[in-house]
Amino acid sequence: MASASLLKTSPVINKSEWVKGQSLRHPSASVTIKCHPAASLTVRAATSYANELVKTAKTIASPGRGILAMDESNATCGKRLASIGLENTEANRQAYRTLLVTAPGLGNYISGAILFEETLYQSTTDGKKMVDVLVSQNIVPGIKVDKGLVPLAGSNDESWCQGLDGLASRTAAYYQQGARFAKWRTVVSIPNGPSALAVNEAAWGLARYAAIAQDNGLVPIVEPEILLDGDHGIERTFEVAQKVWAEVFYYMAENKVMFEGILLKPSMVTPGAECKDRATPEQVAEYTLKLLHRRIPPAVPGIMFLSGGQSEVEATLNLNAMNQSPNPWHVSFSYARALQNTCLKTWGGRPENVKAAQETLLVRAKANSLAQLGKYTGEGESEESKKGMFVKGYTY
Ligand code: 13P
Repeated sequence: MASASLLKTSPVINKSEWVKGQSLRHPSASVTIKCHPAASLTVRAATSYANELVKTAKTIASPGRGILAMDESNATCGKRLASIGLENTEANRQAYRTLLVTAPGLGNYISGAILFEETLYQSTTDGKKMVDVLVSQNIVPGIKVDKGLVPLAGSNDESWCQGLDGLASRTAAYYQQGARFAKWRTVVSIPNGPSALAVNEAAWGLARYAAIAQDNGLVPIVEPEILLDGDHGIERTFEVAQKVWAEVFYYMAENKVMFEGILLKPSMVTPGAECKDRATPEQVAEYTLKLLHRRIPPAVPGIMFLSGGQSEVEATLNLNAMNQSPNPWHVSFSYARALQNTCLKTWGGRPENVKAAQETLLVRAKANSLAQLGKYTGEGESEESKKGMFVKGYTY
């Protein structure tokens, strides 16, 4: 009783919790209260950035807007550039990324852009900091913080995601550089199991990352990508997704992650890429929304889907189908391939094509903005934008 009444009259602390007799992560944000001669309570604010995290997440999850994922590692960016006959040099990566961030009016449809570390510290071809250009477009800069996938010993040929070592100091430096949100992508493979070990490792890693990112002022995008690889049906994807998200939320709660200050990046619930039975956008929406309703608390502000190898049009149609009636969360996009594919091809590495390439990026961004509002019709789309982009064992 004594402790309860003391808590009520204790200094106002946002999102506080109390832990009896434990030492806490962030002494600067804690208050110790004497409540009994023999005991004391320590009350801790979840993170000193709590209010800012909520605000950042809400800004990104704003109506009619979503995320441009442009955080391809140098190796992956090299594959993209090779597809249009360009060498993987810093100058070519800079030219391409300049084209993306300077597309006029991009911020009408895009609320956040995920950058690779190189881009966070890079300038555009005319010498402005990429981060400043994004902010001037009303786009929040974000940063990929995971260090990629490696084989998971003891599993069924599955992988785990590296990057927790040194993450606190890296995220603090990224915040100083202007990043306000982060992304960590790990994967789960259905054909390889998934084993309990792989799911457990994926969920624990995401939860630790999310806690560390929040402690340093970055809204974590939580991304356990359930790969499209496989010939399984949609029911099997649904079953695995339920298991994965249950564990992710269990460990996020254990790690005291503040759900109001995160964003999720799930795969849509679809059949495996090699399954004979294809699903309509309405079926994808039905299964995916059922998954979200069962597993995702309404405190989470935004669900920003990845495209995972779907064609540009397919990804937009599926998103549109999910927004035909109101949802408890902002349901939107965080696409890389499904926003960039025709843009990259239109550019082809030629300066004279920059304007046309930016226009194709804006066409896709606008289409997905309409889909976020449930108003996309699918009319007038190019043949190129209907081509699937699934690649077996895709890395990022
Ligand atoms: P895709 O949309 O190409 O799947 O990429 C999104 C992403 O950021 C993967 O982590």
